[in-house]
Amino acid sequence: MKNYKRYLVTAALPYANGPVHIGHMAGVYIPADIYVRFQRARKKDIKFVCGSDEHGVPITIRAMKEGISPQQVVDKYHALIKDSFERMEISFDIYSRTSSPIHHQTASDFFKKLYDKGLFEEKETEQFFDEKANLFLADRYITGTCPVCGNTRAYGDQCENCGSSLSPDMLINPRSTLSEAIPIKKKTRHWYFPLQDYESWLREWILQEHKEWKPNVYGQCKSWLDNGLQSRAMTRDGNWGIQVPLPGAEGKVLYVWFDAPIGYISATKELLPNWKEYWCREDTKLIHFIGKDNIVFHCIIFPSMLKAHGDFVLPDSVPANEFLNIEGEKVSTSRNWAVWVHEYLKDFPGCEDILRYVLCSNAPETKDNDFTWKDFQEKNNSELVAIFGNFVNRTMVLMHKLCGGKVPVLHASALDESDRAIMKAIQTTPLLVSEALEEYKFRDALFSVIDLARKGNKYLQEKEPWKKTTLTETVENEKSKAAKEDIDNCLHLCLQLTANLAILIHPFLPATAKKLLHILKVVDKILEWENAGKLNLLSVGYSLRAPELLFRKIEDKEINVQIEKLKHGLIQSDADVAPITGQNSGKEAPDLKTEIVYEDFSKIDLRIGTIVSAEKVEKADKLLKLLIDLGNEHRTIVSGIALHFSPEQIKGKQVVVVANLAPRKMRGIQSDGMILMAEDKDGKLHFVSPELLINPGSTVN
Ligand code: 2FM
Ligand code: ZN
Repeated sequence: MKNYKRYLVTAALPYANGPVHIGHMAGVYIPADIYVRFQRARKKDIKFVCGSDEHGVPITIRAMKEGISPQQVVDKYHALIKDSFERMEISFDIYSRTSSPIHHQTASDFFKKLYDKGLFEEKETEQFFDEKANLFLADRYITGTCPVCGNTRAYGDQCENCGSSLSPDMLINPRSTLSEAIPIKKKTRHWYFPLQDYESWLREWILQEHKEWKPNVYGQCKSWLDNGLQSRAMTRDGNWGIQVPLPGAEGKVLYVWFDAPIGYISATKELLPNWKEYWCREDTKLIHFIGKDNIVFHCIIFPSMLKAHGDFVLPDSVPANEFLNIEGEKVSTSRNWAVWVHEYLKDFPGCEDILRYVLCSNAPETKDNDFTWKDFQEKNNSELVAIFGNFVNRTMVLMHKLCGGKVPVLHASALDESDRAIMKAIQTTPLLVSEALEEYKFRDALFSVIDLARKGNKYLQEKEPWKKTTLTETVENEKSKAAKEDIDNCLHLCLQLTANLAILIHPFLPATAKKLLHILKVVDKILEWENAGKLNLLSVGYSLRAPELLFRKIEDKEINVQIEKLKHGLIQSDADVAPITGQNSGKEAPDLKTEIVYEDFSKIDLRIGTIVSAEKVEKADKLLKLLIDLGNEHRTIVSGIALHFSPEQIKGKQVVVVANLAPRKMRGIQSDGMILMAEDKDGKLHFVSPELLINPGSTVN
């Protein structure tokens, strides 16, 4: 283990083309904030940087659609996102933005340095161009019919219906999503970064030296490296972004994924005059908190850029999380299937910590997880309210009732077994929490804190100090003295436990920790981690405030409103977006397509074929490679049905084949046609087959 002197924590720069949702919070910002608050409490030298990612095509397109400038788009969302983070108490040292002059300069200098070192390859290629919108089109902005499943709204990089990876060339009837124009091919010149030159170094650095990285991160890196790396264009055509700093490069900007991670450097520069201490010294522990879709950029591309540049430190870890689904479905911003943070804050004022709690205890650390409003209510009511809040409240009420509102004495000679057990729990929990946090296991860490409160409740229940008061009030004798000592000891320890809970919960629920400090009448300094586990945080005789509730119950009706809101949002946005073939699971059949004449139909040559053999396509979960007997020939057809049928199951089946479909390549395999499938309302696929076996090659009219 390296002996690090300082920490630099980055959280992925969110795109300033929409608000942030709870998936972003659970995956990136809450874990990063917990980690930073914990290290600050350990008095580590640590900086936490982030900002808005304000370049890239989606921002230009949003601006075009809304009839405003890209700058207006990013100004609006930068402010909204920044405000959501502040209100969720994400404690960045700086929240900057990539449209800032300091960032433009930094990214531009970075590019120039690689250019001057002769590290870019300059290449001319043909790319799709929308003549109406006057824009080169990224693959995502080309749509057409999927050659595998017939989905008419497949994208140029992927079909979201059958999951096939596509390229725009493979789409049938390609169209620009911006203008509906048929894209043309046009020559363009760009600067490519040869990632393959860094492959062997990356293999050593990640696969050998960073075996401790989270399995999801390590696994994704290995798979990228095993598939082989290729040159990537680091520039784009366009005007929104950072101009390529070379003569003759007008109309070219830096690729958004080239400039965005450099944003971490510019934000640090903006924050600190001595920023180089954080970026240019080997004894800095650099940690990138990101979501899983950013792994390749932070583990492969950005480190290669840093390595090529030569002046900067490399990340020590990239603790990426998986995705958080909502009510069993993937988040979809276009379908408004999301819980937006700014809306939550409006609907649940003062409940930031509840959301922080639920999102941390359910964080998608090792696999995709699900957020449901019912679970949100359950976790609040039966954990925060019934365990943590209840323990603190009982302690404070009893202390006021039985000890006159002051911290009672601890009678060492009267300690019993359960007193000693709770003392031990107070002393040992901080190590459990800190070990888990050091390993980025935020759920485990939070569980240990709640478990301590749970133990506190159990302890109170065992000791039942409220039952012992009658004894102390009546006769002054040995028995009553022992009862009094027992009450004092119990409440003394419960109060010390409460003070410990303030320290331990602080990284997770900062507002709750502050409330505890207020009730206990202690200053922030007590939150330093070195105090965790101590049994003398509150002095004997110190008078404390009246109890106040830490959390409130969440009622059924509040949850029902949220569930309705989610569904309503979906209905609204479905009205804007035409149904996608094959994505109508659980819904009514989609509307009919536009009318065609017989001549249109007669162009399609449909034949009966028999599946001779079927096999899985390597590294494509959804594809099967079929060999089909069409009477006088055998055809290879690649079909996106692997999630519905096993190869063995379908041998011998008769199917309807679109026999005159132009050949397409999928995963390097030429597919000569397509088979027809019916999809039922539950999204299950069925073959369209003749009632009885007939000769392969028979026509279907
Ligand atoms: O995925 C995203 O939201 C990107 N805007 C993250 C960028 S992270 C970094 F590289 F800036
Ligand atoms: Zn498809």
